[in-house]
Amino acid sequence: MKRRENSEDRVRNKDTVVQESKERVKTAIKNAGYLFPMKRIVINLTPADLRKEGPSFDLPISVGALAASEQVSADLLEEYLFLGEVSLDGSLRPVAGVLAIAAAAKRLGISSLVVPADNVREAAVVQGIKVYGFKHLSEVGQFLSDPSSVLPAQVDGEAELTQAQSTAPDLRDVKGQAHARRALEIAAAGGHNLVFVGPPGSGKTMLARRLPSILPPMAFAEALEVTQIHSVAGLLKNKGSLVATRPFRSPHHSASGPSLVGGGSFPRPGEISLAHRGILFLDELTEFKRDVLEFLRQPLEDGTVTISRTRQSVSFPAQFTLIASTNPCPCGYYGDTVQPCTCSPRHREQYWARLSGPLMDRIDLQVGVNRLKPEEITQQTTGEDSATVRSRVQAARDRACDRFQDTPLRCNAEMQSAHLKKWCSLDSATRTLLENAIRKLGLSVRASDRILKVARTIADLAGDEKLQTSHVAEAIQYRTIDRMQ
Ligand SMILES: Nc1ncnc2c1ncn2[C@@H]1O[C@H](COP(=O)(O)OP(=O)(O)OP(=O)(O)O)[C@@H](O)[C@H]1O
Ligand SMILES: [Mg+2]
Repeated sequence: MKRRENSEDRVRNKDTVVQESKERVKTAIKNAGYLFPMKRIVINLTPADLRKEGPSFDLPISVGALAASEQVSADLLEEYLFLGEVSLDGSLRPVAGVLAIAAAAKRLGISSLVVPADNVREAAVVQGIKVYGFKHLSEVGQFLSDPSSVLPAQVDGEAELTQAQSTAPDLRDVKGQAHARRALEIAAAGGHNLVFVGPPGSGKTMLARRLPSILPPMAFAEALEVTQIHSVAGLLKNKGSLVATRPFRSPHHSASGPSLVGGGSFPRPGEISLAHRGILFLDELTEFKRDVLEFLRQPLEDGTVTISRTRQSVSFPAQFTLIASTNPCPCGYYGDTVQPCTCSPRHREQYWARLSGPLMDRIDLQVGVNRLKPEEITQQTTGEDSATVRSRVQAARDRACDRFQDTPLRCNAEMQSAHLKKWCSLDSATRTLLENAIRKLGLSVRASDRILKVARTIADLAGDEKLQTSHVAEAIQYRTIDRMQ
């Protein structure tokens, strides 16, 4: 007879992680110089129906067993949160997600956190909770017998942030391409999504990789958000504390849906969340699978992604700037000044159909990149450097920030219809210009709203309070793809 699995069995079967932990803890306790209690021990992990993942429970289980058998002091356990993997020899190994757990512990009013030494800098970024880091289980035991003998770790996250240097390549290496450089500056100033369209070798990838170099530095609160996501994904390198520069993620076009938006039976953040407060770069956009790109539509609108599972549903932040590059057609040379395009109109149509209209609708800046002229290729002078452009970007962002006081908005790209009404009103001549563009290019409401947001950023870069015709006219220029269709 086929036996139906009840919920208790399910829990028992799934939690092999906890079984492995039991074996590790037993050996580690002996190797740390303690006795493993001979009596039966019940360790109650609640809620029971929530699947336990990862080795983080090793340390709390070990400490619990040692306290229950009166080998370490149990006096202070109520006030402490323990977290960490314990190796067979009793040494403590780092685990993922410590920063997010430290922030949650603080919210719950827990006063102190005990973690493996390699996690201590990450956890100590959270202010208002004492963090202690140890290398070995025996050190934790000694600490519990005399907590005043050890000082909590101190990390000045804000100082780390100010000292952080971006390693992104500099715009000064880019010759010519004034139009594309201007589009990058607008994207950085307003947080606008951008796609570069142009023939092979025209510099699309080179330009896109330079966007991080002109973005304003992260605020401390932003760095905390980003670091928590990277911590949960287990990506914090060098035992560091903060992710101090804006993320730049460039997944390969063979990326699956879950790797892009997040997934797994125990949901993990995907590339769009790892790019939170930074950039998601999709190079060779048409090579990505269409259904994978469709996953991007909702997060691009909401700035967050929800992964639903039968037992739980997890939301990760995903407020990123999308930058993409693509050739204009299968052969790559449609619209090129030198090499003729060999594609039939039908092939070109099919090619564009791969990029669904709704995705393109969400890209504010569609920018044609032409091949360099011979005299530009041979030019000796360098272009304007990133620091100079960044200072203009910062000034424009500061202007937007003044406007956004009392709202949760951080940049122009996040404005909604009500904000556009308030801050993007047009005079009648400019309205006529926009109406003509909507008619001629067949623009959706969303696309025309995006023109207004871009125009607002152009005005901010110019230091203008009011939208002028020239700002809107320039914004319309960045609808290359709508014009091509
Ligand atoms: N404007 C430029 N200034 C300086 N070097 C450039 C410029 N454009 C292209 N290059 C040089 O050409 C190389 C190729 O450029 P890049 O890879 O960015 O082209 P691409 O448009 O992404 O091409 P593909 O469509 O084949 O991916 C760059 O590594 C760079 O050395
Ligand atoms: Mg390229």
